[in-house]
Amino acid sequence: MYFRIPQRNLLYSLLKLLNRPIPMKDKIDKILKDIESYKFDGKEAAEQFRLKYLSKKGQITDLFSQFRHVAPEERKTFGKLLNDLKNKAQSIFDEANKQASAQEEKGSTDIDLTRPSLSAPLGSRHPVSIVRNKMTDIFSRIGFTVEEGPEIENDWHNFTALNFPEEHPARDMQDTFFIEKDPDILLRTHTSSVQVRVMENSQPPIRSIFPGRVFRNEAISARSHCIFHQVEGLYIDKDVSFADLKQTLYYFAREFLGQDTRVRFRPSYFPFTEPSAEMDVSCQICHGKGCNVCKYTGWLEILGCGMVHPNVLDFCKINSKKYTGYAFGIGIERTAMMMYQVKDIRLYYENDIRFLKQFTSAI
Ligand code: DAH
Repeated sequence: MYFRIPQRNLLYSLLKLLNRPIPMKDKIDKILKDIESYKFDGKEAAEQFRLKYLSKKGQITDLFSQFRHVAPEERKTFGKLLNDLKNKAQSIFDEANKQASAQEEKGSTDIDLTRPSLSAPLGSRHPVSIVRNKMTDIFSRIGFTVEEGPEIENDWHNFTALNFPEEHPARDMQDTFFIEKDPDILLRTHTSSVQVRVMENSQPPIRSIFPGRVFRNEAISARSHCIFHQVEGLYIDKDVSFADLKQTLYYFAREFLGQDTRVRFRPSYFPFTEPSAEMDVSCQICHGKGCNVCKYTGWLEILGCGMVHPNVLDFCKINSKKYTGYAFGIGIERTAMMMYQVKDIRLYYENDIRFLKQFTSAI
C-alpha cells in the first residue's frame, strides 16, 4: 500500500522524533493547512474543531503561549501570522456552526405530508349563545326577522315611549345604571327599547325578534346578575289578537323544549302591554312532579308578554286604531339555567373553560 506523505509533515515528524523544537512558521503552516481541509458535519464536529484549535488548550491558543520564545526581530511577522491564523480558524468555526444550525432547522421544518395532523383545540359556543341561536332559529322559521338595538339608551326608548310615566314605580323595578342625568343616558334595562326603535323606523306589518344584552343594578347572586340577555319579540299588524300571541308562544315552547311541554299563562303587569301575562312552562327536570329547580311547583317562568299598549303604538307613530300587536321578552340565562340545570348564573360570566366546554350545539 502506498501513502503519500506530505513533505512538511515528514519534516515535522522527523523533528518531533529528534525532539528538536519545530519552527513557529511550520507550526502555523501546518495548522493552517489542517483547518482549511477540516471536514464538518453538524454541530458536534464544529465543537470538536473549537476544542482542538481555539479552546484554552487548543493548538492555536498554545501557539500564542509559545510566542514569547520567538526572537524579538521576528515577533512582528509571527504576530501577524498568528493573528491571521486565529481569525481564520474563528471564521471557519463560525461558518461551520451557522451551517449546522441551518441544517438542523431545515431538518425540523421538513414537512411530512403523510403525518396525521394535530387536532387544533377548537373552542365551543357559549351556552348563552347556544340558547339565543336556538331561539332565533325557531322564530325565523315562522317569519320573524332579527334586529338589534344599542345597549346605551336614552330615557325615551327605555322608558317613556314604553309607557313608563315619569316617577312611576315601575321604573324602580328596573334598577338602572345611569351614565348621565338630565337628559338621561343609561344602560338599557331590557330589550323592549328595541321595540320602540323598530316601530319608529318602520310601518306594520312588523314581525321581528331582538336578541341582546341588558343591564340592571342588582346585587350579584346565584340567581341574578347585573348583566344578562333577553330575546324580545314584536308582531304588529291588522287584527293581531291575544290568541295569536298564545299560539306563537305555544309553538315556541314546544319547539324549544319538546313537544310534550305544557304551558300556562298568568296575568301580570307591564306598562307597555295590556293585557299582560307571564308564561310558565312545565318543568323539564321533573316533568311536573316537583323538584328543587321548579321549587316543587312543577312550573318554570320563562317570559313576560302581552298585547302592545295603544299608548306605545301612538308614541311610535303607529296608528293604534288600525293596528294591534303583541310583544314578549324571554330571559336567556334563566332559560339556559333550566335547560342545562345550571344552579348559579355567575358561571356564565366567569370564563371558566371547564364550565364552558361542556356545552355543545348544532347551531
Ligand atoms: N321587558 C320586560 C322585562 O325586562 C319583559 C317583557 C315583558 C317584554 C312583557 C315584553 C313584554 O315585550 O311584552 O322584564
